[in-house]
Amino acid sequence: MTKDSTNKKRRVHFDPDNVDIVVEEGANLLEAAIAAGVHINASCGGNGVCGTCKVLIKTGEVKSTRTEKLSEEEYKQGFRQACQSRVITGLTVYVPVESKLERAVLSREAKKTSEVLATGWRFKPALSKLLVELPPPTLADNTGDLSRLLRGLRQHYNLHNISVDFSVIKKLAKVLRNGRWKVTVTTLITAAKPRTKEWRRPRVINIESGDTREKHYSLAFDIGTTTISGQLLDLNQGKVIAESIDYNGQISYGEDVITRIAYCQKRGGLKKLQQAVTATINGVIRELKAQSQIDAKYIGHIILAGNTTMTQILLGLDPKYIRLAPYTPIANFFPPVRANSLGIKVGKQVYLFTFPSVASYVGGDIVSGIVGAGVHQRKNLTLFIDVGTNGEIVVGNSDWMVTASCSAGPAFEGGGIKHGMIATDGAIEEFNINPPNFEPGISTIGGAKPKGICGSGLINTVAGLLEAGVISQNGKFNTDLPTKRIREGTSGYEYVLSWAPETQTGKDIVITEVDIDNLIRAKAAMYAGCQTLVKSVGTTCANLEQVIIAGAFGSHINVEKCITIGFLPDIPRNRFTFIGNGSLLGARLTSFSRDLLDDARRVANMMTNFELSENVDFTNNYVAALFLPHTNSREFPSVSNTLAKLPKSKPKRRMSV
Ligand code: FES
Repeated sequence: MTKDSTNKKRRVHFDPDNVDIVVEEGANLLEAAIAAGVHINASCGGNGVCGTCKVLIKTGEVKSTRTEKLSEEEYKQGFRQACQSRVITGLTVYVPVESKLERAVLSREAKKTSEVLATGWRFKPALSKLLVELPPPTLADNTGDLSRLLRGLRQHYNLHNISVDFSVIKKLAKVLRNGRWKVTVTTLITAAKPRTKEWRRPRVINIESGDTREKHYSLAFDIGTTTISGQLLDLNQGKVIAESIDYNGQISYGEDVITRIAYCQKRGGLKKLQQAVTATINGVIRELKAQSQIDAKYIGHIILAGNTTMTQILLGLDPKYIRLAPYTPIANFFPPVRANSLGIKVGKQVYLFTFPSVASYVGGDIVSGIVGAGVHQRKNLTLFIDVGTNGEIVVGNSDWMVTASCSAGPAFEGGGIKHGMIATDGAIEEFNINPPNFEPGISTIGGAKPKGICGSGLINTVAGLLEAGVISQNGKFNTDLPTKRIREGTSGYEYVLSWAPETQTGKDIVITEVDIDNLIRAKAAMYAGCQTLVKSVGTTCANLEQVIIAGAFGSHINVEKCITIGFLPDIPRNRFTFIGNGSLLGARLTSFSRDLLDDARRVANMMTNFELSENVDFTNNYVAALFLPHTNSREFPSVSNTLAKLPKSKPKRRMSV
């Protein structure tokens, strides 16, 4: 923020948040907003190419160049791209509704429709609190404090071969005497020895005066690219006592992992992103403490699941090679680290565990979801799918698992769509159409006036348009229909979902052929990935016995509509299950059970990763899936039957592949 600085201070006021910040003249306006805690969409990470960071300069002056992302008219009105603007004078900046990220609706993401869980595990957390009463030293028994403690642990709990953190030794004498030789010892067991059932020796990580066994807590986290979810867990009762979610602070530096990795290559970039994620984690912890009124000193450990890039950035490790062929992570297993060494504000004794990953694009979040849902415990052939910009797919059962990551592009999250937006208030979510006059019926998240269309809304809309014959199976509009909703726009044919007077933005909200094309490509990548994995083990999608859909996006999709467009396999609907945030689910359950914690390692080891980018089978499957629902109608028998009953409309134009 001090680049090009002249050391003159300038006050920037952001509306409608009503937040002020003082920055140096020459500061980047997007960075000023980040520092002020104002969330502005910045999909491209400040590279000037996405145009999502538009703001209105109400008073004052910025130094900025107009790019093609701003129309001349917008520029004249005072709109600027925040990332391309430098502060010259004091400013009043208005962040318009389409550029803002609303936190209030994040709670929607925590919703889930149902849950399958790992079964048969023992409630036995890796973290234990043990009460030890020791005889005070005497002249006849003046054994050292540490030996006395270890002797007590041996006698009371049959614990041998224990290691003790130096931080415990440092405070041992005082704590023992303050507690009159009655103390609570916190021990941690990290994992079983590979290929044996023998547990690693416990480590004493904390000691407290008196009996504090009642206060025994830990944290589970899902570190997503978009959001960070945390739960505060009571390890005595095995339950969640508080839960919170926030946008990952890194979102202001880019929407997807690729942009974030690129940002890490800038000077100081990795440090900024590492600090942004820990700041969000600390905010979530503050909220959890406020909800539960629990003192942070009783939090004993943290289990955290995230994709490979998010994990590496959190640990301060450059993710550069994740993005470059042959796509190597630094490691798939990281040892536990002290949470406060990363900037996480918890006690010094707290260790942070990260879930093991499989590959650069199949991370600990997927391993966590598999363990949480118990896929590794069942014999039935399961497809596990987590959809985002990168869709991760796992096929397998208790004996084997194959996995792959499909680059679906951002369409499922509303990215790359003319009026696309993330799933917040005002996003069009439900769509149906009245066939006689082709008028739409829409509903939005939060019931607000429409502002754009989110990923699940896009799927529902395309499915509805297809079933009503408004678009053909190649995704092109049937321009012969008697409706003014279909028209030629600046980027080809489009359908008006909502007229300007009814919208929040004061502009027509449309879905274009380019949007539909983007969705077709995204769903084709996911379906082709699934087909490729299933075929690699000698079976077909029709034989899948269970489909588990994870992730915030997955919780809000309509299975029927997804099948209609050819995104999910056309199998009996009762085989589909939703688990919501699988990553958080796995982190929580492993906090309760060291058996499951051990399973996480085993699962990560048993998964065989497929790199689809060079896979010929995948390319062929992908091309075949670039149709609604698919070029092979036998893949989607029920949809093909429905479409066959529609009056035939003639596709006039071909889709470019
Ligand atoms: S154009 Fe500013 S963040 Fe993308």
